[in-house]
Amino acid sequence: MTDSYSRLINTPLGKRAAKALGLPHPVPLRRYEPGVEDLPGREVLVLGGEGADPLAARLLSQGRSVHRHPEPRTAYAAVIADFSAAAEPGDLQETALALGHALKGMAAHGRIVVLGRPASPQDAPGTAAARAGVVGLMRSVAHEVRRGATCNALLLEDGVEPGSDDAAAPLRFLLSTRSAYVNGQPLTVRPGGAATDPDRPLAGKTAVVTGAARGIGAAIVRRLSADGARVLLVDVPAAGEALTNVANEVGGVALQLDITAEDAGRRIAEAASARLGPIDVLVHNAGITRDKLLANMDEARWASVIAVNVSSQLAMNRQLLDSGALGPAPRFVSLASTSGIAGNRGQSNYAASKAGIIGMVAAEAERFARAGGTVNAVAPGFIETEMTRAMPAVTREVARRLNSLQQGGVPDDVAQAVGFLASDAAAGISGQTLRVCGQSMVGA
Ligand code: NAI
Repeated sequence: MTDSYSRLINTPLGKRAAKALGLPHPVPLRRYEPGVEDLPGREVLVLGGEGADPLAARLLSQGRSVHRHPEPRTAYAAVIADFSAAAEPGDLQETALALGHALKGMAAHGRIVVLGRPASPQDAPGTAAARAGVVGLMRSVAHEVRRGATCNALLLEDGVEPGSDDAAAPLRFLLSTRSAYVNGQPLTVRPGGAATDPDRPLAGKTAVVTGAARGIGAAIVRRLSADGARVLLVDVPAAGEALTNVANEVGGVALQLDITAEDAGRRIAEAASARLGPIDVLVHNAGITRDKLLANMDEARWASVIAVNVSSQLAMNRQLLDSGALGPAPRFVSLASTSGIAGNRGQSNYAASKAGIIGMVAAEAERFARAGGTVNAVAPGFIETEMTRAMPAVTREVARRLNSLQQGGVPDDVAQAVGFLASDAAAGISGQTLRVCGQSMVGA
């Protein structure tokens, strides 16, 4: 487990105390290990009308034991509830109540994925209400499930059907141990997702990671490398030694560079072309905090956070898209933060920069589509890092428990989401921000 309270509460005495006193009881999450089964069992329940039949057939062909109705005394490893045909709020009831029935027997660490359609102002009002309602239902189920189970949603754009290849690739991520700390989140899916090797989804890809010398950046480097990518690692000259160590660990190439340099994008393009070849994946991870209440904020704190966290990315994206150094389907992933969604006392500069990232990826999606690629963000919640270890003990303990999984995430949880968005499985996902926060109440 990630922290001492969690270790204590998972002893026999701790479990009894948690039950008697109603204390939080975080369970150790079942995380990705190569070669280990995605789901904690074979029993899979597919709920919904005829439209879900092809999905059930697909899961059956993968060796799952597939059910179409909840059955007594069955511990489901996964439940997929298809609401994609809902046209009125009244249409949700049958599948929602069947899902409720199935939850009683849900296996520990099980996965629930709700399928819907994105609501749009062009929809008839009743249809929009039904579609938006599916997200509310999903978020509530995510709060209700226990024992390491999660519930997330795939919102399928017109033309993407529940049993299609386009839906299957992102579905696989949400059903897998790679998404252990993703909970209560919707992802909109367009056509394009492709099956990838479950243990080497980035085989043959070239990736660049900024802020790679330590923390979440180093975890992303290790993940992308383990998943098959060759990596160019970027960090400031002052972090040169740590950068070289991480680069040597994964057989990557180190580039000492301050990303706020005017020509940072061009220098990354040159280094990649000289040492590795066309860039398939770029992870804008480097980021800084310079916290102060806005009333006490000075120009240097404000300007440096905006420059490193967002302006540098805008400039690098422009230069890289113009450089000719990108592969045929470039996938860019930026690190945002739940502070950019909820705001945070003392972080007006940081929250402005991270909310800026969320706006930036939404607005860049079309440009990246023209280049054959995608651009997304990952917004981590409370992650166990040097940064969060430095928080005052009580604030840290409260922050850790303020999510449905009642624990902090680990850097690899963030890296897994980045790896997914960097892979061809996520080719139908662009312009979006995926939260990796255990369904944090902050900004929920
Ligand atoms: P960290 O401070 O441990 O590492 C950041 C890295 O970026 C360092 O190696 C640093 O040298 C590098 N860097 C900073 N300025 C740079 C520049 N101008 N040029 C090149 N490299 C530069 O941070 P951590 O915790 O690993 O965070 C990584 C990312 O995740 C950041 O964007 C952060 O805002 C975001 N994040 C982190 C959370 C957490 O819980 N740790 C929560 C939410 C978001």
